[in-house]
This record gives sequence, structure tokens and C-alpha cells, in this order.
Amino acid sequence: MILDGKLISQQIQEEILLQVNAIKADGGKTPHLAAILVGNDGASETYVAAKVKACEKAGFISSLIRLPETASEQDLLEKMNELNNDKSIDGYIVQLPLPKHISEHKIAEAIAPEKDVDGFHPQNVGRMALNLPTYLPATPYGILQLLERYKIDTAGKHCVVVGRSSIVGLPMSILMARNTVPGNCTVTLCHSKTKNLKEFTQKADILIAALGKPEFITADMVKEGAVVIDVGITRLPSDKTKSGFRLAGDVNFADVAPKASYITPVPGGVGPMTIASLLINTLKAGRGEVYHSK
Ligand code: GUN
Repeated sequence: MILDGKLISQQIQEEILLQVNAIKADGGKTPHLAAILVGNDGASETYVAAKVKACEKAGFISSLIRLPETASEQDLLEKMNELNNDKSIDGYIVQLPLPKHISEHKIAEAIAPEKDVDGFHPQNVGRMALNLPTYLPATPYGILQLLERYKIDTAGKHCVVVGRSSIVGLPMSILMARNTVPGNCTVTLCHSKTKNLKEFTQKADILIAALGKPEFITADMVKEGAVVIDVGITRLPSDKTKSGFRLAGDVNFADVAPKASYITPVPGGVGPMTIASLLINTLKAGRGEVYHSK
């Protein structure tokens, strides 16, 4: 069965619009998300444009702030300081990846935790690990919501996460291990130094592929009846599309789908869920639900 991220994301966005309309009818503040985009990376342009469009559809205010590829780390930190102090903005994101001369760690530490709707600040990562109120990072949160809305039982299952990035693999492994629903899995975190990867992936009841290698996961690596979540999204050249590229996941879908009980497609799986999660986090930020002192 297909886990239809596009459909679930649309449902969530409609639910958010209703809530935003209710806030406005009550004379409350319209949620406002800002995004900083440094440089002109093609994929980042696409993702940020999708986030801005989703905000508008949900009745939010959105601001897109562009800095040139040549902007210094200091320039970005100054812009972030402005946003941290701008009371009209409830939350903001700095789109990754950043140019090589800017430290992503430094940037993650500079965002005000109460406006960190990506959940990347170390304080929010710690709160996530401890199951305290926080903003969950958008992609892992989106996966949790897919599992929840399709009522997939995760307790006691073996979840194998492939990839340990700070924005997907690492937080995903923590979230699936927490004493929550979804969660309560026995988690194995595999990465580029894992020996005999296939021995682990074959044992997964829930397999989460977030390694960034197109069509890497093949049927022989997957257990019959596994739940397969594909986080990969790589642009591959194609002469069959107008844009000149096609999107490939980390899972060879045609090969793996017949063996999986549930599987996410690319596109239309995890990607749209990321956007829904960001909107939920922004709504929470606007309401001061996570940091009550806001
Ligand atoms: N780049 C890829 N995924 C993300 C994300 O969730 N947030 C931000 N800010 N950048 C990203």
C-alpha cells in the first residue's frame, strides 16, 4: 500500500487553514513564517518556493529573505539577529545547505529557540530527545505523522534508519526510540561506515532510507512485509521530462514495492509531509505553545 504523503499533507494543510481562519475571526495574530535563502541552489529554490506557497494557502504571512551566495557568515548572523528580535515573525528557517564558508552548526546555534520551527537549535534537539515540548524537525515529524495517520503500529518493531544526518537520520532514530506513539521501536542506526548493511536492512520491520544515494535500496535488502520510508530526493538527468531532470528516491521503488506492506513514493511521499510539519510548527510558534514565556 502506498503511503500517500501528498494526500495526507493536503488534509493537514486544510486543517491548518481552518485553525488559522478561527484565529483571525477571534482577532488573533496571523502566523508569520520567514525563510532565509542564501545563494541560488536550484533544489533549495524549489523547496523554499514550495514552503512559501504552502504558507499562503494556509492563510499565513510569509517572508522570503534572500542573501547572495557571497554573503559572509557575519551577514547571515546579523540578518538572523534581526529576525530574532522582530516581533511580527513567529518562526523562521534558514534553508540548507549553506555555502561552504558558512558553518551550519553556528547558524543552528544562532536562531532563537522559540522561533526555531526547523527544530535545529541544540536546545530543541535536546528537548526532542527528552520528549519535552519542542519543534520537531520537519522531515522526521512528517514521517511520524504519516505513520500515525495510516495507523501503522510501531511499538516493539525493529526500525532500521540508514543515514545519520543531523536533519533526518539522527533525529529519526531518536524519535522512533522514544516512549511515544509512533515510537517505541528497537532502533538500529546505520551509516556510511556500517559493515554488511544488507544484514541490518533485511531485519527491518520499518526501514527508513535517508542516505542520499538514488535507488540504493533494492528488493534483496528488504524483508517481506516491511514498511519502507524513502527520504531520498536526488535530481537525476532525464531526457523524458521538460525540466531535464527527474526525482529519484533512495529506494528502487519498482523493485521494492511488491515486497513492502507500505511504501512511500518519490515524489509525493515524505517531501510534502515536510511542508505540512513546518506549517504545524509555525502555528505552534504563533500560539506560543512550545515556549510559553514567548
Ligand atoms: N534542507 C533540506 N531539508 C531542510 C529542512 O527541513 N529545513 C531546512 N531549513 N533546510 C533543509
